[in-house]
Amino acid sequence: MYTDGVHDTFGVIEKAGGSIHHAIHRHNPDRKPPTLTAHRESDDFLEIHYRSQRQLCDVVKGIVRGLGEHFDERFAINETQCMHDGASECIIGVKRLA
Ligand code: HEM
Repeated sequence: MYTDGVHDTFGVIEKAGGSIHHAIHRHNPDRKPPTLTAHRESDDFLEIHYRSQRQLCDVVKGIVRGLGEHFDERFAINETQCMHDGASECIIGVKRLA
């Protein structure tokens, strides 16, 4: 797993959205990774915006949980809008639990 320079779940997600997926697409335009952006609303709350023709927001939630297990963090995950309901992007709130 890529964790260079990051040491928690939010760090990995911010990095993936901001640069890794982008770099993959730039390296090979046939690859179509998702558009993923993350806004840190506070130390313990991250809002993820996800958009992809594949509509794999459930995979995003699974990755968040898996990263949480890796870093020993627990989260309440709440998707407030979803492409499966016709929205242009999914919005997934991730609250870190004590
Ligand atoms: C940190 C290192 C990461 C790397 C190297 C990486 C790399 C990739 C690659 C190579 C693909 C396939 C793209 C294609 O061939 O079209 C992909 C897809 C995907 N990635 Fe990542 N990723 C990373 C992190 C993440 C994280 C943190 C999330 C979510 C929180 C995420 C969510 C997804 C999803 C949902 C897909 C499925 C494709 C889609 O939704 O259209 N990835 N990623």
